[in-house]
Amino acid sequence: MKLFSGSSNLPLSQKIAQALQMELSPIETMIFPDGERRVKLNDSVVEEDAVVIQSTNTPVDQNYIELFFIIDALKRSGARSITAVIPYLGYQRQDHVFRDGEVVSLDVMIRFLESLKVDRIIAFDLHSIKIPELFHIPVTHLSALPLFAERIQSKAFNKLVDSDDPEEFLKDTILVSPDMGGLRRIEQVSKTLNGLSWIATVKDRDLRTGDITIKHFEGPLSPSDLPGKRALIVDDMISSGNTVVQSAQLLKDNGVVSCDVFATHAIFSEEAPELLQDSSIDRVYVTNTVFIQEEKRFPKLHVLSVAESLAKALHT
Ligand code: R5P
Repeated sequence: MKLFSGSSNLPLSQKIAQALQMELSPIETMIFPDGERRVKLNDSVVEEDAVVIQSTNTPVDQNYIELFFIIDALKRSGARSITAVIPYLGYQRQDHVFRDGEVVSLDVMIRFLESLKVDRIIAFDLHSIKIPELFHIPVTHLSALPLFAERIQSKAFNKLVDSDDPEEFLKDTILVSPDMGGLRRIEQVSKTLNGLSWIATVKDRDLRTGDITIKHFEGPLSPSDLPGKRALIVDDMISSGNTVVQSAQLLKDNGVVSCDVFATHAIFSEEAPELLQDSSIDRVYVTNTVFIQEEKRFPKLHVLSVAESLAKALHT
């Protein structure tokens, strides 16, 4: 097997290579003065199973193009098979038509990948469980939820939220979905955590502007159950930060004593770090599916690594 990395998340690629006790194969990418890019593999892949790792977060189109070019170079150079590890799959929230006349952007990207003859995709926490069905090639859909559940149960985390007794900790803790679309994730984490009870905050979105408002709750728990509880919000991604910040504020307004956020993909906008740091959220846990530049890191942020899970998936 030969392992190549695009430029969007080199630190994660290096960690995956380390977990597999391999080296990343050298690759040359350059950008011409007019902005065109060129990719050249500096390793032989003839009759090799080739893997390319590239998250397609911001700059989304640029990162996709680089991925397409690497795949094409692998194919032309004689690779036996090509696996694309796309820890964060860009355009995944545009997986169907919301309003008449719209593009299905994710479908366009899938058609590019398939026409380039990729054999397998590995991705993390896709926005909808229906996304793998949009592909005509095998998709391994991994999740950070077990990693989050493990962290929630760890002594270190219990201590952070002021509890020495794991049982007492879970008794006073609730899971929160910041919107109705995240219920599947909440049910999954709840199962791992002895059926921890949950509530959802209900998000309304203006489809034209994208603006959101979160004002009320739904779920087995009601607002009267909230005073004194510790809340754990679970989501798939944080972009502007508005969803989790508004959800946390509503929870705190209703008597929750602490509020921690667990979200897989840190696709932070420019404003997100400051908004999250200044919010009523106590801690923000994300993974390294997306590389977080130094200037986007903030004191409340904790980053967990998905490298081991990806390395394991590449073995199967
Ligand atoms: C939406 O359905 C997703 O699950 C996330 O809640 C959303 O994309 C987060 O975006 P933002 O941080 O901009 O509110």
